[in-house]
Amino acid sequence: MSVPAAAALRVIAVCNRKGGAGKTTTSVNLAAELAALGWRVLLLDLDSQGHCAVGLGVKVHQGEKCLHSLFTDPQAQLVDTLRNTSIANLSLAPADQLFEHGTGVRDELRLLRALADPAIAERFDLVIIDTPPSLDLLLLNALSAANWVLVPFVPHPLSYEGVRQLMRVLFKVMSNQNPGLKLLGFLPTMAADNIRQHRTTTGDVARQFGAPRVLPSIRNDIKLAEAFAVGQPVRTYAASSRGAQDFAALALCVTQLLA
Ligand SMILES: Nc1ncnc2c1ncn2[C@@H]1O[C@H](COP(=O)(O)OP(=O)(O)OP(=O)(O)O)[C@@H](O)[C@H]1O
Ligand SMILES: [Mg+2]
Repeated sequence: MSVPAAAALRVIAVCNRKGGAGKTTTSVNLAAELAALGWRVLLLDLDSQGHCAVGLGVKVHQGEKCLHSLFTDPQAQLVDTLRNTSIANLSLAPADQLFEHGTGVRDELRLLRALADPAIAERFDLVIIDTPPSLDLLLLNALSAANWVLVPFVPHPLSYEGVRQLMRVLFKVMSNQNPGLKLLGFLPTMAADNIRQHRTTTGDVARQFGAPRVLPSIRNDIKLAEAFAVGQPVRTYAASSRGAQDFAALALCVTQLLA
């Protein structure tokens, strides 16, 4: 499966207001898999926890320009925040760990405008935005700038409630700021088929939003946490692991959906 030719920049926001749902693990590993398939990928870390840089082994020093500079400096340019990673075809705009959520320029369209820079469209085919677990201005920026939303969720009843809350925000954004926003799908993460609760919750999501909206699961795999801890995507850390297989399958599925 190859990258569609002469395509416009595609933007995927990875969201779930529930913490620990697998947003960052999904953002980093899906970005790495799609880069390996030939997409020129830009990963944007909107979460000031700064975990994307950790997961890719990128060092960010105090005072360096970061993605959050967009929200503290009206003159800041996205291109000035870009960092190469050890993965071919994958760049990162890291988060500013000192950024305080709830502060900054109150502009829901700041990221949308930053991505409209022709220098970004020339360098990249695809942008993946990792978002914080909150319903704040940064999430609204991500949803306003995206064409697609990907919702990782742990198949567990509490997490399902987080999905429903996010969908309410999503529908609001779709009918106001961003009518072109589409749902890429719900991604079961840390999934185990032998746990009845997981099957039940995934079934509930399929019934409520449609079975085609449920993407192939990412199974529970400690290799994903280990890979993160050493600053590598799982495809380089443990190429034959369950996690690497699942993210490779997800990347193929996403490539088809984006085509
Ligand atoms: N499929 C998996 N198998 C095992 N562990 C996983 C899996 N996916 C994620 N994890 C681990 O679960 C934890 C939470 O994952 P992650 O940081 O990706 O979630 P998040 O939604 O980004 O969290 P936050 O809301 O804090 O940003 C991490 O320690 C990660 O290594
Ligand atoms: Mg995260």
